[in-house]
Amino acid sequence: MAKKSSKNATYTVPGLTTEQGHAVADILQQRLNALNDLQLTLKHAHWNVVGPNFISVHEMLDPQIEEVRGYVDEVAERMATMGVSPNGLPGTIVAERTWDDYDVMRASGVEHLAALDLVYDGVIQDHRAALAEVSDVDPITEDMLIAQVRGLELFQWFMRSHIENDSGVLQNSSARTEKAAAKAAKSAKNGKAKKSASAKAKSSK
Ligand SMILES: [Fe+2]
Repeated sequence: MAKKSSKNATYTVPGLTTEQGHAVADILQQRLNALNDLQLTLKHAHWNVVGPNFISVHEMLDPQIEEVRGYVDEVAERMATMGVSPNGLPGTIVAERTWDDYDVMRASGVEHLAALDLVYDGVIQDHRAALAEVSDVDPITEDMLIAQVRGLELFQWFMRSHIENDSGVLQNSSARTEKAAAKAAKSAKNGKAKKSASAKAKSSK
């Protein structure tokens, strides 16, 4: 019978106790789950976006997906470096995550961006909490997470720029769910279309 492999190695990085190193890596497991979930969700939006802004949103998402996949690899390899086996299996993401599946299917660019903005809120808040938690023990892991938050926040700004009005208000600002965020962006877009149609009708009179 094959020997059962253990999740934790007998070592960690130099300068930390094995317990400290493994505790930091355990915190990273949930960041691995979140980033794995995020790259799948971004691909889902990439495939399900429709409407006049299709190509710009479809193409805008791919480089971010590549970036997030890089973060997934970085987090998993940091865990292994610290002596804890990273679990990248789909069942683990579903069993351990504290959030629901993204719930927008075929929808316009602004609807997906408004919903993804909420997804980013969750991932970034949890990344910030994790980096604060590890900061005293392991500045190397903290540094990795800081760089990832910087990249995630930059992309969130790209998305927000599509759903922001000229007063700096986000169309999804009162939404608490992805569906509500998408709906708010859709009604803001329809309201604008109605306004410009009635202005056109007035000017042609
Ligand atoms: Fe594609």
